[in-house]
This record gives sequence, C-alpha cells and structure tokens, in this order.
Amino acid sequence: MSATTLATQKIPVVPRMRSLLGSMLLAANPIPILNSYLDTYGDTLIMYIGGVRPTLLTRDPGLVQHILQKNHRNYPKSEFSHGIARYLGHGLLTSEGSYWLQQRRLIQPGFHRQRVAGLVGVMQAEINECLKPLERQLEQAGGAVEVAVHRLMTNTAFRIIARSTFSTNVDNAELERMSALLTAIQAFYVRTIRQPYLRPWLSLRNQFRAHDKLASELRGMVRGYVRQRQQIGDAHDDLLQMLLDVRYEDTGEPMTEDQVVDEALILLVAGHETSANALSWMWYLLAQHPQVVATMRASMAQVLGSRAATFADLPNLGYSLQIVQETMRLYPPAWILDRVAQEDDSYNGISLPKGTLISAYLLGVHHAPSLWEDAEVFRPERFAPELVKNQPPYAYVPFGGGPRLCIGNQFALTEMQLVLLEMLRRFEVGWIEQPPVQLQPLITLRPRQEIQLRFRARS
Ligand code: HEM
Repeated sequence: MSATTLATQKIPVVPRMRSLLGSMLLAANPIPILNSYLDTYGDTLIMYIGGVRPTLLTRDPGLVQHILQKNHRNYPKSEFSHGIARYLGHGLLTSEGSYWLQQRRLIQPGFHRQRVAGLVGVMQAEINECLKPLERQLEQAGGAVEVAVHRLMTNTAFRIIARSTFSTNVDNAELERMSALLTAIQAFYVRTIRQPYLRPWLSLRNQFRAHDKLASELRGMVRGYVRQRQQIGDAHDDLLQMLLDVRYEDTGEPMTEDQVVDEALILLVAGHETSANALSWMWYLLAQHPQVVATMRASMAQVLGSRAATFADLPNLGYSLQIVQETMRLYPPAWILDRVAQEDDSYNGISLPKGTLISAYLLGVHHAPSLWEDAEVFRPERFAPELVKNQPPYAYVPFGGGPRLCIGNQFALTEMQLVLLEMLRRFEVGWIEQPPVQLQPLITLRPRQEIQLRFRARS
C-alpha cells in the first residue's frame, strides 16, 4: 500500500514532518504522541511509523470490532506480529490462516474453565513460594518493608505460567534464565520495529545474530523439557501434557515435537508479561485507593473469614474481578494490536484499501472520554455486572476479540484474582510518595520505573 493511496482517503493525516519528529519521541514512549494525534485529528487517523510506513491508528470501538470480529477474515496480523516468529516460532500467537485455525481448535479445550480450575493448585503453590521471601523479610523487620512490586509480580507471574506449563521440571535458576531471555528478545524486537532506520547498524553490530542465538538457547531449554517429559513418560496435569496429549481430529496424530515446542514457548511469552504488568499496575492503583481495598476486604471477610480463597469462591468475590478489570482498562497489557487489510474494504465511509496497516489502539479505546465517564479515574464499580451490559461493544477489549480472543483469558483472570486475594489476606499495602510511574510500552505495557510500595503483615 502506498502512502498516497491511503492518504487520499477522507481520514485526517498527521503531516509527515510531524510524524517524523514524533517518531524520535515515539521510540522512547509512543503513548503521549499517539494521544496527542488522536486529540488533534479525531478517533481515526493516518500516521507514519518511523516517519515512513503509513498506518491507520484508531480508537473507534466500531472499527476495532470490524477488524477483529465482523470482518476478521480480511484482517490477518501484520508483519510486525509475524516478525517475532523468527525468534519465537509459529505458535498460536504468531501463526495465521488454516494452520492457526487447526491449532486453535486443537488447543482451545485445554483452556476451558474446568482445565483452568485444575491448575489452581499450582497457581496457589507458586503464589505461596513467591511470597515467602517477603514474609521472611517482614518477620525480620518486624514492621513494614518496601517492596519492588514489578519485580515481585514479574517473578510471580512467570513462575505461575512456567509451572502451569512444565510442572516441576524446571528449577529456579532455569526459570530466571528463561525469563531473562524472553525479556531480551522482546526488547530487541520492539527496537527493530520502532526504529527501523537502526537496522543496518544493528546488523553491522551482529545484533540480529546475537538475538537469534538467545532465541535458540530458549528453544533449546523448552525442547529439553518436552523430551524429558516424553522420555520419563510420567503424566502431569499441566499445559505441556495437554499439548502432548491432544490429537488432530482428522488424522488422530499428535503434534510434532517442533509444534509442541512452538506452542509451549508461545504460552510462556503470551502468559508472562501480560499478567505481570496487570498485577503491578493493580498494586500501584490499590495503594492509592484505600477505599477500594476496604471494599474488597469487607467482601473477603464475609465470604472467606480468614481462610485463603479457592477457585469455587471466586464467583462470590466479584469485586476482585472488577478490580482486575478496571486495572486492565486503565493499563491494558496488550495496549495496541496490528492488522493488515487483505482486500479492499470499507467501514463507516472510511475506505480501507488492500494493504492498509491498522493499529487498534486498545489503550486509546479504554481511555476515550466519549466511552467512559471520568475516564482517568480508577473505579472498579463501573464493572458491576448490572453496568457492564451498558458498555458499548468493543469499548473494553483487554483480551482482544473475535476468533483470536486471548485463549488464556480465564487462566489470567483466575491467577490475577488469586494473587490479589492472597496478598490482601496476608498484607496491608501502603503508598510511598513517588513521582508518577511512567509507561513503558514495549510489546506489553510495562511500568518504566520500579513501583515501590510498603507492605506490612496483617495481624
Ligand atoms: C492479563 C493477561 C493477558 C492479557 C491482557 C492478554 C491479552 C491478549 C490479547 C489482546 C490477545 C489477542 C492478540 C491479537 O488479537 O492480536 C491475546 C492472545 C493470546 N493469548 Fe493472551 N493475554 C493475557 C494472558 C494470557 C495467558 C495467561 C496466556 C496463556 C496461558 C495467554 C495466551 C495467549 C495466546 C496463546 C494468544 C493467541 C491466541 C490466538 O491467536 O489464537 N494470554 N492475549
């Protein structure tokens, strides 16, 4: 698609010069720039990524629904999403077309509510493990301790997804290495997309090859766990076992080893930073909203007394879900999704010629004043069941939508509620004066600085 073809549509265009200047700042943090474009030009506009690649940016929920659901067949992911397959392989998140559909059908049952319920024991054990150092610190300090919340939540979320996938096959040092590899690969990949002009320089410095090596180390580790499981042959009730046990309906065959490695790796990637970031932002918000914590505690006292929550309790603790939902409205971990038009199409008078690159700006949708009253205010009450039905379609899309809706959404909502409830059961959380934590939007929406909060053991 040429810039001029897109630019002749009746959609406001961010002037190339402004785009180019913006692209310098865009590399550091695109969000203020994207917001300023939308505030100036309206909910849907054309801008140039890196000053060169035209893209249609939208926070119109109707257009988001059009590309994700109503006419999804015309909108596969773009090369930005597919490119990461170089490092992470072709799992559900990175594959397309009939191969994707076949894999989705195969794997979907492994994420049904009952299967997720079966993983709750693992989640709880990992939450306990991750909170132990904090408990010890609190015992020694005898009062309150300052906690680096993003570090703690990243560790917790990674352990939950890694053990839900591989059970106890992985030791702690390996967990840390895997997590570090994933972070390095993603940060590098985002850099190559956002600053395409750096590619020759990165190539000269052998950075592509260096990251290929990191990726093959990561795949090697995952392959090792898969082989170990197959050799020892002891069945586990985890996601890897599910991947090994499923059979294609037409042939009755299992996946090949490469396919299992691809899918297992994608689960780690998709299920790690997303939950970690949502949980970090959740504590950031809760520490500043003690009345929300008080409401949650009142509900916990009624439903649980002093015991830990089980999966069966969650439906009776609806406010915990509302807290998680409202956190992901303000801080959607998947903050932008990309698609590309396969054929000429139109939506609401906007023509979308073949090749149009579309960025569905989920963060923009979740903050749009036209969709949300007091959009910047953290208010879990807006997710009360009787109010949710008034939300316009696709105004709230933290897990995407349509056939490619996040397959791990039940898993993620369960894990996040369990972390919330268990930590509130054990600790008081307190705010420490600090400058507002800035956003660091990579593939997921991270906090740029560490979030420091004060935790105290509950008596
Ligand atoms: C707060 C946590 C999470 C958020 C916000 C989130 C968000 C998303 C979003 C927005 C998509 C759609 C991407 C697109 O359409 O381009 C997606 C896809 C996906 N997610 Fe999640 N996710 C989360 C947790 C998880 C977890 C825990 C897992 C695995 C256990 C997971 C596995 C996947 C997979 C495999 C896909 C690709 C599905 C497909 O294309 O068929 N996610 N996620």
